[in-house]
Amino acid sequence: MTQEKLKELLQDMSLEEKVGQMIQLPADVLTGNGLVTGPTGTTQLTEDQIGMAGSVLGIKGAERLYELQKRQMEKQPHRIPMLFMLDVINGFETIFPIPLALGCTFSPELVKETCAIAAAEAAACGLHVTFSPMLDLVRDARWGRVMESPGEDPYLNSRMAEAMVEGYQGDLRRKDKVAACLKHFAGYGYPEGGRDYDNVELSERTFMEDYLPAYEAAVKKGCRLVMTSFNTLNRIPSSGNKWLLRKILRDKMGFQGVVISDYSAIEEMVFHGVAADAREAAKLGIEAGVDIDMVSNAYAGHLAELVRSGEVSEQLVDEAVLRILQLKNDLGLFEEPFRAVDSALAEKLLLREDFRQKARETAAASFVLLKNEGILPLKKTETIAWIGPFVENPELYGAWSFPEKPEETVTVRQGVEGKGLSHMTFAQGCYLMDPGCPTKYGRVINPCDEQADLWLREALEMAAASSRVVLCLGEHRDMSGEAGSRVSLGIPEGQMELLRKVRQVNPNIVTVLFCGRPLAVKEIAGLSRALLVAWMPGTEGGNAVADVLFGDRVPQGKLSMTFPRTLGQVPVYYNHLMTGRPNSPREIHLFKNGYMDEVTAPLYPFGYGLSYTEFSYSEVSLDRREMKAGETITASVTVTNTGDTDGVETVQLYIRDPAASVARPVRTLKGFRKVPLAAGESRKVSFSIEEPMLTFYDIDMNNTSEPGKFQVLIGGSSDTENGAEFVLV
Ligand code: NOJ
Repeated sequence: MTQEKLKELLQDMSLEEKVGQMIQLPADVLTGNGLVTGPTGTTQLTEDQIGMAGSVLGIKGAERLYELQKRQMEKQPHRIPMLFMLDVINGFETIFPIPLALGCTFSPELVKETCAIAAAEAAACGLHVTFSPMLDLVRDARWGRVMESPGEDPYLNSRMAEAMVEGYQGDLRRKDKVAACLKHFAGYGYPEGGRDYDNVELSERTFMEDYLPAYEAAVKKGCRLVMTSFNTLNRIPSSGNKWLLRKILRDKMGFQGVVISDYSAIEEMVFHGVAADAREAAKLGIEAGVDIDMVSNAYAGHLAELVRSGEVSEQLVDEAVLRILQLKNDLGLFEEPFRAVDSALAEKLLLREDFRQKARETAAASFVLLKNEGILPLKKTETIAWIGPFVENPELYGAWSFPEKPEETVTVRQGVEGKGLSHMTFAQGCYLMDPGCPTKYGRVINPCDEQADLWLREALEMAAASSRVVLCLGEHRDMSGEAGSRVSLGIPEGQMELLRKVRQVNPNIVTVLFCGRPLAVKEIAGLSRALLVAWMPGTEGGNAVADVLFGDRVPQGKLSMTFPRTLGQVPVYYNHLMTGRPNSPREIHLFKNGYMDEVTAPLYPFGYGLSYTEFSYSEVSLDRREMKAGETITASVTVTNTGDTDGVETVQLYIRDPAASVARPVRTLKGFRKVPLAAGESRKVSFSIEEPMLTFYDIDMNNTSEPGKFQVLIGGSSDTENGAEFVLV
């Protein structure tokens, strides 16, 4: 449809019809069921309002969506097709590792491919929009939603943001693409105390410099939608924050797409105490620039009347509706309301063999080897006992995955058995969750204590009779994700007891951790000879675990979020500011920055991860020591694989600005390169450093660089001290 036709359509629509476009229904209103993650106001809608609604979230299934589109369009005065949206976070039916794990691949290329697969599967099943990428920078592992973010670094998250938008969206006219919706705008990743939905307290400078870049990178790649966040920022809830949505998002970042509220977030402004009632909340929402009200009754109940009473200009409604119609038009829905929905194609696409292979490759690349005392890779001839509640658990996907066929997930046991080896034994060992443990859906009831005793006895016998034990432990998938905040960073006590007891009969323990957040693993690491973090690896998780443990693939992931030594260090992240009393991170000195009972260094820092070989780095060489604006300095190192196994190293470039008009982080990531190196091979790796990489928000809030000394650090982790200096003149 041409722009003129689109505008004509808008002019021909009644006010009620226009408001309808701005309403998003939850699935249950139309189908009687669907994922509900909070109270909705849509029970108050009339039949007419439901008929005129512009979009719906949370429905899956090609045939259902086809039927729904047909039914709804008949009710629409102008036969406007609906938009179908869903949380396709790390895969649709082929499930990939959780986004935090995807961050650990340090491979935007791989991540882009996973998103393209998710988009193809989702589009064939009738979806138009995915509520992804989630780009909230995360620094506090108590928050359950860290699993949804690429991690703690603005630069890495920005590269992942671009990859995800390109993967999902690319050219939106293509039938195998869906529109991307970045979220949660903005700053949702730093709730006080790690409590979900809590207030976010950030200085404007930290917000602009650390939190905005990833959102901005997604906008620059053409991301078509933005979702507001639940939290307050500077004491203003995002769905009513004009500064945020108009000045920063639209004016500064140049966003022209659709802004959608988070689930009920417009009406929740009443509970935030910034609106007296839903009517006032609706006014705040539209004035701030929220185009679609996700599932609350604010717009549906009040917007038309606010316009009629002259309190809200119809112009604002028209602008919002035009943006929504534009998106529908760009998706080609006016010409083809059923777009890509195709049951036969879906049948062929979902879980296609090459998709599964990509999931296997990605999962393996996301695993992070934290410790290895020469016990990995396992020898295929050894007797190995595979013990723990994750050995046969098919729920190896994160909290935002809802596969129609969960039984398609490869368990660890199936992955090991797929290797066709003898001498492998398998045991449950203990329950995954402790009895009485709270979950999002109630408290855990473990059916029978006797069963637990039997499992333990069997596991200990197996462990004692084997040369190696692989313990598969971790968090249940529902212990992270939305509403998955925790005050402890351990695994359930029953699993810890299993580990301690196994250790007494066999010290040759490899622990594989399945989790949705960084955990405090000091004791686990101490009791294990090797420790591999497998996160929530998805459909091919079991195969990937077997591949990596037996050395058929090498571990190559690097942490995208810091692992603390202890919960009390949280929030802990590598790019913290310099202080006036700097301390050696590995020592305790009173009256210097830190604690009296623990060092400040985390257990495993950002960027850290081992392989089955070792890499050495030459000193950093710079092709010149002085830079003027517009010039480039080339920083190089030679990286050598010093072992006898091939490997892949992620070479990381950090820059430090030791003196500026405001305090600067101790270092910030400015580049990375994944380098495959055969055993014994050396390779020169170079990075170009340019003046825009040195900018920050100065004392007057100008984004600029300041002349002076800079340090360049290049190594295999954020704690590298391998550096050189140059001067910006
Ligand atoms: C609430 C969550 O905060 C958001 O991330 C999600 O996309 C919506 N619910 C829709 O499910």
